[in-house]
Amino acid sequence: MSTKTAALPLFSDRILAKLKSPGASDDSTITLDGDVLRCSETGETFPVIDGIPSLFAPSTGEGQEITAKVRNFYEENPFPNYEGIEEFGELVSKGHANSFSKKLLDAVGYNKTILECGCGTGQMSHYLQLNNNHVLGIDMSLASLGLATQHKNHNGLSRASFAQMNIFNLAIKDNSFDVVISHGVLHHTFDARRAFGEIVKKLKPGGIIMVGLYNNPARLPTLIRSKLIGLFGPNIDFVVRNRIHNKRKAETWIADQYYNPHETWHSIDEVMGWFRENDISYANCSPAIMGTDGETAEGLFAETSPGTRYQRSVTQLTWLGTIAREGALFDLIGKKQF
Ligand SMILES: C[S@@+](CC[C@H](N)C(=O)[O-])C[C@H]1O[C@@H](n2cnc3c(N)ncnc32)[C@H](O)[C@@H]1O
Repeated sequence: MSTKTAALPLFSDRILAKLKSPGASDDSTITLDGDVLRCSETGETFPVIDGIPSLFAPSTGEGQEITAKVRNFYEENPFPNYEGIEEFGELVSKGHANSFSKKLLDAVGYNKTILECGCGTGQMSHYLQLNNNHVLGIDMSLASLGLATQHKNHNGLSRASFAQMNIFNLAIKDNSFDVVISHGVLHHTFDARRAFGEIVKKLKPGGIIMVGLYNNPARLPTLIRSKLIGLFGPNIDFVVRNRIHNKRKAETWIADQYYNPHETWHSIDEVMGWFRENDISYANCSPAIMGTDGETAEGLFAETSPGTRYQRSVTQLTWLGTIAREGALFDLIGKKQF
């Protein structure tokens, strides 16, 4: 990917106004002072590393070891990566062709502020800044954010901003974003429930949260494949056989799915419990819960019925035959109460 294009401002004004330094009060602000970020409250400065603003505060205590291991893994394997130089038009075509991302863009609407926690190499953040939306993508992997920023600068995407942060110590004011998304991320943290509690604080009352996690039980076939992949090779993976046509992206996918240093699995009912603990009302599930109005919902953020515990259990068993072959990610969508 070209690095020769001129760098755009690190943050759009709408996004900069939502930042603070990790641990500072919500009354403080961050200013850009040449090549450093400065906290108005403490005067503390934070570097811009190779074009990436770094407001990263490492985890301490019980999460320290897992966070460091996961960070090293994604420094070596930026996910999902790009296929060489990608023009924004290609990314938009792929986004429109993918029914999940198109539904997400339609559901988000126009002129919104979106926080993507664990944005990886930034494809979703770039896609969602369409429709005059302003997106902040945060991640702890500088290698991933480097690729995201190259793509942003190469394509002149000034409404996408990126920063290095730790989900457990976000440098963002509470109640500040219209939409918060975290897709395929929290199950790689040392405590997914606690991570959910952190990201949800950044959502405005009335705002929408969407969290994508590995499903229990649908992740089981991946675990079985992980024991066999050394013997049979990467072609035992459906996504490698049918979806990815680029060698580097295929290697990244295999590493992420089968050699990840840490992952946990979650059920719909468990995440509904996190919703209740954080004053989030259930809106929808993707894929839909069988036998509910979610199956015919008008949009991804439509308010639908979660069905019964029995319906949710049967739905998750059927996922063993559907989403299991593509990583077993399901997304739960909720609305923050006023
Ligand atoms: C599987 S990738 C998902 C990337 C992207 N959301 C996607 O769906 O393609 C998981 C990402 O979560 C990030 N991550 C994991 N734990 C994190 C933490 N505590 N703080 C910030 N980012 C984290 C990793 O660095 C990695 O880029």
